[in-house]
Amino acid sequence: MLVCTTIPQIRSALQAHYPEKSIGLVPTMGALHEGHLSLIRASKQENDLTVCSIFVNPTQFNNPEDLLKYPRVLAQDLEMLEKVGCDYVFAPEETEMYPQPLSLGIDFGDLERTLEGTHRPGHFKGVGVVVAKLFNIILPQRAYFGQKDLQQFLIITQLVQQLNFNIQLKSCPIIREKDGLAMSSRNRRLNEAERQVAPKIYEALKLAENALKSHASVETAKKTALQLLNDFSVFEVEYLEIVGAENLVPLPPSMKVEEFGKPIAVCTAVKLGDIRLIDNILIP
Ligand code: PAJ
Repeated sequence: MLVCTTIPQIRSALQAHYPEKSIGLVPTMGALHEGHLSLIRASKQENDLTVCSIFVNPTQFNNPEDLLKYPRVLAQDLEMLEKVGCDYVFAPEETEMYPQPLSLGIDFGDLERTLEGTHRPGHFKGVGVVVAKLFNIILPQRAYFGQKDLQQFLIITQLVQQLNFNIQLKSCPIIREKDGLAMSSRNRRLNEAERQVAPKIYEALKLAENALKSHASVETAKKTALQLLNDFSVFEVEYLEIVGAENLVPLPPSMKVEEFGKPIAVCTAVKLGDIRLIDNILIP
């Protein structure tokens, strides 16, 4: 496994492989867990070579405290990537990716003004820019993302379609701990008590899913899930919404799932102290 920290380094390392070898890219911010590794494995199955990028991207953090506290454990990450058989790692410094302050902005329209976008202003502009940079640096055939960040996947789909990147996007299932908690780099910041109640987030989503599947209205399903979360004072629910999975537009309160006829997602963001966790369930 070759680790590169500059753009010329990774470009010249990959140069020898274009166009014969297919390249899969897995963009990450490090503090890797099984969720990230599942993306590496998916890429390895479908490509000759897999590149993992590790970069805590400052332009997507709307909260400076969150950026400061984001876990950084590069040595441990590299060990995990080596074990899983990743071929290249691109782990640049901030000055490598942003030699000058970012003046360019991308607007994703309605898609960035809902759910995460409402609570993290500017977040998706930062994601869009850094992913576009990574695509231009690595020039992969395929790029792998998790369903855990459902809105991010839809944003990147728009990026690829509207800017004509010749890259196939792949969405991979959410990997969970045994107790249902969606794996996240931020989980390692939870204290013991917070970690113990955190699986209730997934339980609440399942409650909503089951209610919808037993013909409850959107409003009733939402209430059922929120009731469970509100039982725990440590949770501060930012949003819990039942939306169309293709555009993230909330379904009308009185609607029943069978009337919608398209895939649905139940999405939530919950804060435990200053740690913000997101999760979702897709109902195909
Ligand atoms: P990060 O949060 O490190 O996540 C990297 C990728 O791993 C994302 O595609 C995310 O959806 C996926 N992922 C995270 N947890 C997962 C889980 N439990 N199961 C499956 N996949 C999971 O998302 C980002 O970084 C950044 O925004 C990035 C795209 C790298 C741009 O900076």
